[in-house]
Amino acid sequence: MDTTLQKTALITGASKGLGLALATALAQKGWKLLINARNAERLYKVQQELLKYTEVEAISGDVIDEIHLLQFPDRIAKWGGLDLIVNNASSLGMSPQPHLLDYPIEVIHTVFHTNVIAPLSLLQKVKNYLKSNAKIISVSSDAGVEAYAGWGAYGASKAALEHLSHILAVENPQWKVYWVDPGDMRTDMHQAAFPTEDISDRPLPEKSVPGFMELIEGNHPSGRYVSQQLIADLMMVR
Ligand SMILES: NC(=O)c1ccc[n+]([C@@H]2O[C@H](COP(=O)([O-])OP(=O)(O)OC[C@H]3O[C@@H](n4cnc5c(N)ncnc54)[C@H](OP(=O)(O)O)[C@@H]3O)[C@@H](O)[C@H]2O)c1
Repeated sequence: MDTTLQKTALITGASKGLGLALATALAQKGWKLLINARNAERLYKVQQELLKYTEVEAISGDVIDEIHLLQFPDRIAKWGGLDLIVNNASSLGMSPQPHLLDYPIEVIHTVFHTNVIAPLSLLQKVKNYLKSNAKIISVSSDAGVEAYAGWGAYGASKAALEHLSHILAVENPQWKVYWVDPGDMRTDMHQAAFPTEDISDRPLPEKSVPGFMELIEGNHPSGRYVSQQLIADLMMVR
């Protein structure tokens, strides 16, 4: 492959769930990847698996750790630019989720740091490497729009992530900025959100991937998208 044409992506939280599904889909299409997650062993295994398809760099660490985030630009500097950032790593907060009046404030700090401040901090650190037509995808949730009891910390953080993304889109028309509801997915985070429920009827994260690929490969304007709606629209066109 001509490496000057190779597309490049940074995906946070790519060791399982939706992040892994997206990383796998992009790797299979030959994208060069930089991935992260906290659990180094699991991340390393994912890196080894994806190396079958493409070039993959992995840095383990917590997105709320500024020293960790500062390592990203050095890795990307060698690449000659970044086409895509997927802010996927996220904190649900406590499981089960308490109502707001009983929610420990220190946990709310971590939820907002992980879900809102870290994506912005990462973007600040790598902004000089983003190509002029780069895409920034922040994974949100319907909980960022709907008011579900018990979802106050996580939901409010996703609402903040959505508004922050909207403002980034207005301030940076050279990039496409998407904030995306992936829908319910059978993942560890979903199980933590519904600790007493059998979640085996929820779709696997791979089912959400085509909606994200439509945004990544298409020419949609910046804005809020629902992955399942994008997929339904695609089916109508075919
Ligand atoms: N699952 C759903 O039903 C659902 C619905 C709506 C929206 N979402 C959103 O979809 C995205 C993916 O969620 P998921 O369900 O796929 O979650 P998941 O299966 O729990 O995977 C989360 C990934 O992020 C990593 N991660 C978590 N916290 C991190 C941190 N502080 N720093 C670095 N990496 C971190 C995890 O690895 P480590 O634990 O090793 O760090 C893992 O790779 C999230 O933004 C979530 O809010 C999910």
